Amino acid sequence: MKSIALIIGGTGGFGQACAHMLAAKDYHVVVAGRSEARGNECVQAIAAKGGEAEFITCDVTKRDDIRALHAKIASKHGRLDVAINSAGILGELAKTADVAEADMDQMFSINIVAFYMSMQEQIRIMLKNPGGPSGHVINFTSIYGLRGIAYGSPYSTSKHAVVGMTKSAAAEYAKEGIFINAIAPGVIPTAMIAGVQSQLTRPEADPYLANLDLIAAYPVGRFGTVDDIAKAVAYVIDNNWLVGSVLELDGGLGAV
Ligand SMILES: NC(=O)c1ccc[n+]([C@@H]2O[C@H](COP(=O)([O-])OP(=O)(O)OC[C@H]3O[C@@H](n4cnc5c(N)ncnc54)[C@H](OP(=O)(O)O)[C@@H]3O)[C@@H](O)[C@H]2O)c1
Repeated sequence: MKSIALIIGGTGGFGQACAHMLAAKDYHVVVAGRSEARGNECVQAIAAKGGEAEFITCDVTKRDDIRALHAKIASKHGRLDVAINSAGILGELAKTADVAEADMDQMFSINIVAFYMSMQEQIRIMLKNPGGPSGHVINFTSIYGLRGIAYGSPYSTSKHAVVGMTKSAAAEYAKEGIFINAIAPGVIPTAMIAGVQSQLTRPEADPYLANLDLIAAYPVGRFGTVDDIAKAVAYVIDNNWLVGSVLELDGGLGAV
């Protein structure tokens, strides 16, 4: 029987790259997200390469969806070996006092509560894995989970929370063989970044945002790629000495 990998946000940029990497490593991959079209496309692309995957719809703003997704995995597969929490949003850029309450709620619901609940559900399955507790959980934080970002305080707040939940849970379950870590990437062009760029180039954009030169801060002189992400995830799941780590994957941004 194959090992089981779950990717929440498997329909997005990072998630799809991880899905392909894990399928190539012979995992049965469960791709979760809202978009059935992108989910099924990912499953079919994996199948075309000889891999095994399935799509399960899950809107992480609905707590019942999160419970149902994990219950399905537990009942169908009876195990979970790798779980990647990638479903996230960056939201509207605004100064803190101008952030709308609804935007704040949505950000914290997706980027904090859903990550936390999903991790709880994942640990519960991993504790009951046949042969004893085992598994790897990877949470996507961001370089902005380690520093602030002007006009992005809800996002930065949420990603700092991901660091806190990762480190705390990691300390609780490492002895049992469940390894929980986070990856903190810098900018990697995906749909999320396209959304930010369209905000920067709006005619009514705040001059601070309109003049932002995002790439200038990267010593390597370029943004990352989703392939860089998949390689980092492969490294983390191959390692049982990384416990509560936050792997900075940022082209040197955090080094200076
Ligand atoms: N790209 C970057 O530069 C960057 C840098 C650092 C950290 N990150 C973090 O890495 C993660 C992945 O980012 P990405 O670049 O791959 O973003 P992306 O391409 O925009 O994908 C976002 C994913 O989140 C899912 N999602 C959003 N809202 C959801 C909801 N309510 N329920 C279920 N799924 C939902 C989307 O799926 P559906 O649309 O199918 O629901 C999609 O799969 C995020 O947590 C992000 O904050 C990204």
